[in-house]
Amino acid sequence: MGSLLEFLPGDITKTITMSPVLMVLGVVLALISAVYTLTSSGRRNGSASNPQRSAKASSKDSLEIKPLNGLDYRAVEPTQYRPFKPIFHITMALQADSPSELITIDSEYLDRVSLRRQIIAQHGDMVHACLPAGIEAVRELHQFLLRDYLPTRFPTMFQLRDEGRHLDNLVTGRSFPTAAPEDEDAAAALRVLGETVEEDMFLLMGEPEGHRAVAFLCCFPSGFDPSTKVGKLLREIHTPVPSYEKIGPSMERFFSKIEVGKNVKRTNWSMQTHSDLFHYDRHDQHKSDEPVATEEIDMSKTYARIELQTLSRLPKTRAILFSFKTYLYPVESLKKEGLGPQVADAIEGLKTGNAPGMWRYKGAPQWGEPICKYLRS
Ligand code: HEM
Repeated sequence: MGSLLEFLPGDITKTITMSPVLMVLGVVLALISAVYTLTSSGRRNGSASNPQRSAKASSKDSLEIKPLNGLDYRAVEPTQYRPFKPIFHITMALQADSPSELITIDSEYLDRVSLRRQIIAQHGDMVHACLPAGIEAVRELHQFLLRDYLPTRFPTMFQLRDEGRHLDNLVTGRSFPTAAPEDEDAAAALRVLGETVEEDMFLLMGEPEGHRAVAFLCCFPSGFDPSTKVGKLLREIHTPVPSYEKIGPSMERFFSKIEVGKNVKRTNWSMQTHSDLFHYDRHDQHKSDEPVATEEIDMSKTYARIELQTLSRLPKTRAILFSFKTYLYPVESLKKEGLGPQVADAIEGLKTGNAPGMWRYKGAPQWGEPICKYLRS
């Protein structure tokens, strides 16, 4: 669908060009039309290729993306999440999220995507891969982000050229075709995403047995090797997670019901005594559970690591997209904010809730005591 102005009679368009008030009205109409184009393309994608989709889903699958016009990403402070509760309970704890907020960009963007490019070059298959069952979903995600989402949401950072055939990243200076690579090289499409956005991503397809990871791009893993998760069902992916059985069945049910355009989000948290974003060694595989002496932990290099995780459904392939953006907050800053006792309680609360194994799983025997002592000092 073109601009609404194309469909107005000639004398009306003449009036529009002459009157400033009506010109503004015209721009507003054109914007509404652009949003409509995006939403209707989502609807088209959703209904044409999958006869199994429910009527309920097809009526609600709009993917309206609100532009952040005039955004200077360098002026955007990273969001400060503080999800510290006195007792850790394993729960889904999902909140509604807007499709516009699928990707988050802040002042760390350029450093982060440059680091991701290096990690992909260095670690290859360990950080991205796609099974044959995931090729179409990767292509759909690549096209949606490059052609629709990024240039609409962040027009000061991403611009389309050649009638939408190329996307220019004005921050990195890199350009990419908006169509996914023709030769079905889904890994190449994932590499483009990896150096364009900061979010890590898993794509899952529903099967009678459960939801299976069919593709991933994960440059910032925290305590696991992402390549060991592809091809596995949700419950297999979460095998090392203590008390996962308490939420696994409801997660599977929830995943089956996610509707297009009805995104959700959640956060998790842990602590780390280094500044690495790429960290695949398991947190609970230290030779000894002896706490590290307080003086051996450099508090200036100790961070709360928080992931903002989102879940959404792609309209055409019906794949589930699990994406997450990683934040590192210095414990020194948390203490300065006056949150020391609250964070220390949350650390100790890892052993007292409905999943006491979390204390060990998150590696707290190593750093729990010294960090709590510091936070309460
Ligand atoms: C409602 C959705 C989900 C919930 C409630 C959930 C819950 C959890 C929890 C509680 C942990 C332990 C660490 C932590 O505290 O975060 C965990 C770890 C993990 N989750 Fe999830 N998860 C969800 C979705 C997913 C999805 C869709 C994937 C992707 C395939 C995934 C992949 C992982 C991985 C790779 C780990 C680390 C496992 C390891 O240590 O080997 N999660 N998840």
